[in-house]
Amino acid sequence: MIGVFDSGLGGLSVLAAIARALPRADLTYFADSAYVPYGERDDAFIRARALAIGQHLVDRGCRVLVVACNTATAVAATACREHFPGVPVVGVEPGVKPAAASSLNRHIAVLATSATARSERLARLIRQHATGVRVDVEACPGWATRVESLQQNDPAFIAEARARLEPLLAAGADRIVLGCTHYTFLAPTLKTLIDGRAQLVDVADAVGRQCVRRAGGIARGDGQLELLASAQPERLQNMLPALGLDWLAQHAVAPAQHVDV
Ligand code: DGL
Repeated sequence: MIGVFDSGLGGLSVLAAIARALPRADLTYFADSAYVPYGERDDAFIRARALAIGQHLVDRGCRVLVVACNTATAVAATACREHFPGVPVVGVEPGVKPAAASSLNRHIAVLATSATARSERLARLIRQHATGVRVDVEACPGWATRVESLQQNDPAFIAEARARLEPLLAAGADRIVLGCTHYTFLAPTLKTLIDGRAQLVDVADAVGRQCVRRAGGIARGDGQLELLASAQPERLQNMLPALGLDWLAQHAVAPAQHVDV
């Protein structure tokens, strides 16, 4: 069983990629809905949540952990690896490397939560993979919450996203990295605003491939999905079709469960 977790709905974009890459793997998804969003919280809080959820998933029998959250990866992936030494931990990091490698203008932008934007881990990723490339890091407070409340097409959000993107595009950024798993669900709206002037870079499928490498051997289940949430489990289940993931909902073996972690 592969355990996948995020603060809320964002990690479903990664879960979908894993299910596509490993259709027979049994998957458990944990949404920390009681504490979403993580992006405006302090690092110690996020680390404590990641370790508690990781422990719960390991106790349930997960043999691989996927931190389907850029914020929790930036702040807590190292702690998870130290804490669960026998369990492969797969994290999600903004696609700085593919964006920098493919940028024609040598100018990319990273959209992320405030916690990811200020993280040393993102700074290191940029130092390692974007030498000679201009990287604009944009914290986007409130965007994950727009996804949680299905407001991707809300006029106020569209105006806010336009105001954030236009200066980046005008300055010549030609790759826009989605540095938060929630933002995958904003991609159609962002694409319309970008109107061909840049490409969006999302790593969800790359994480799916990474899971094949790390978990391929144990992924011979029945393709069953277990949904868990720290609050409003029924909402998690109901959101799957609303996010275009009804095919994933069909793999759920039981109604989503509330768990106190
Ligand atoms: N989906 C998460 C990420 O990738 C966290 C968003 C949030 O809870 O603020 O960063």
